[in-house]
Order: sequence, then C-alpha cells, then structure tokens
Amino acid sequence: MHKNNFRSYRGITPILGNAVYVDETAVLVGDITLGDDTSIWPLVAARGDVNKITIGARTNIQDGTVLHVTRKSASNPDGNPLVIGDDVTVGHKCMLHGCALGDRILVGMGAIIMDGAIVEDDVFIGAGSLVPPNKTLKSGYLYVGNPVKQARVLKESEANFLKQSAINYVELKAEYLADT
Ligand SMILES: CC(C)(COP(=O)(O)OP(=O)(O)OC[C@H]1O[C@@H](n2cnc3c(N)ncnc32)[C@H](O)[C@@H]1OP(=O)(O)O)[C@@H](O)C(=O)NCCC(=O)NCCS
Repeated sequence: MHKNNFRSYRGITPILGNAVYVDETAVLVGDITLGDDTSIWPLVAARGDVNKITIGARTNIQDGTVLHVTRKSASNPDGNPLVIGDDVTVGHKCMLHGCALGDRILVGMGAIIMDGAIVEDDVFIGAGSLVPPNKTLKSGYLYVGNPVKQARVLKESEANFLKQSAINYVELKAEYLADT
C-alpha cells in the first residue's frame, strides 16, 4: 500500500485481498477492491476515481489493460461502475469501461467492452472483439467480432479452459510473489 503504484483519490485507496499480486508498473487509483489471489500484470492502468472498480477472486488482468468507469449524472444516476467477477481472465491490452462481468469469463486480447455491457458467467470473448454499450452476452457462448456477435455454444474444452486459465494465473502469480 506504500508503493507509488497505489494512489488515493479523494482519500480512497485501493483495497487488496489476500495473496494478491500487482506488478510494480501497474497503476491503481482510488476506489478499487481486489479479491483474494487476483493478479494485475505489467502496465495495467485502473482508475477508480469517478466511480468504483470491483474485481473478484482469482481473476487476472493482463498486461497493458485499461480499466475505467463513468461518473454519476442526472441521466445516469448510478453512473457505470466496473464489476469483474471471480476466475476471470482479461487478456493483454483490453479496455473494460463501466461494464459488468460475471464469473469464469475469458476476454480475448485487445477486446473492448463498453459502458453498461453485461457479460454473464461462462462466456468466451474472441480477441479484438468490441462489445457495444448496454449489450448482454449470454452464458455459455463464444462471441467474436466488431461489433461482437454470438458465434456458437462453447465447446466443453473451452468451458473447461475458462476455469483452467484462472488456475494457471493463480499459480503463476504465486511464483512472482515468492520471488519478490
Ligand atoms: C475465437 C477463437 C476462440 C477461435 O475460435 P474458433 O471457433 O476455434 O475459430 P477458428 O480458428 O476455427 O476460426 C473460425 C473463423 O473465425 C475467425 N476468427 C478467429 N478468431 C477470431 C476473432 N478473435 N475475431 C473474429 N474472427 C475470428 C477465423 O478467421 C475464421 O474465419 P473464416 O471461417 O472466415 O475463415 C480464437 O481465435 C480467439 O480469439 N481466442 C482468444 C485468445 C486470447 O485472446 N486469449 C487470451 C490470452 S492471454
């Protein structure tokens, strides 16, 4: 909590669960809560200033990803917080803005998920996809494209990989923690 990469905004500083790994080049600002065993990889920028960011347990946010939120306003009284569930893999260089993700999701590299979008549990989002504002991605499907389209039902191997990827990253971050 004393590192430069944890910054407070209006007196609120990120709160970390147990055994969380945050790379020293990642920057976390303001109202952010990280669940146990979560990992934040190099050059992630997460800014919980005009609303809050909540990330569950055993989730990994990979290199270069940007996380942000939308402020409250007369037309949008709650604004758009960012909520990410448990066992979620967010690939390299994604942009997650004011959206809500459930559990056991893979967000492919470079994907963009916009305000008000909802991703239900057990969804695989292909690399480079764009999820438009307020769209809901249904549980159990692969989605790809810009704008994203439902491609097909997930194969069993893919559904299993959603869980395995989270396990892989919990193991990987444990090695990094042991090394610091
Ligand atoms: C979508 C994905 C799961 C592959 O699914 P698949 O059903 O096995 O797809 P295939 O490779 O058989 O390709 C099927 C079609 O989808 C296209 N396609 C593959 N990946 C795509 C993507 N991300 N976006 C758009 N189209 C894609 C292929 O070009 C192919 O098109 P065609 O039929 O016109 O030739 C994979 O390409 C992907 O994006 N994985 C995400 C990996 C990732 O980012 N992981 C995070 C790592 S840290």
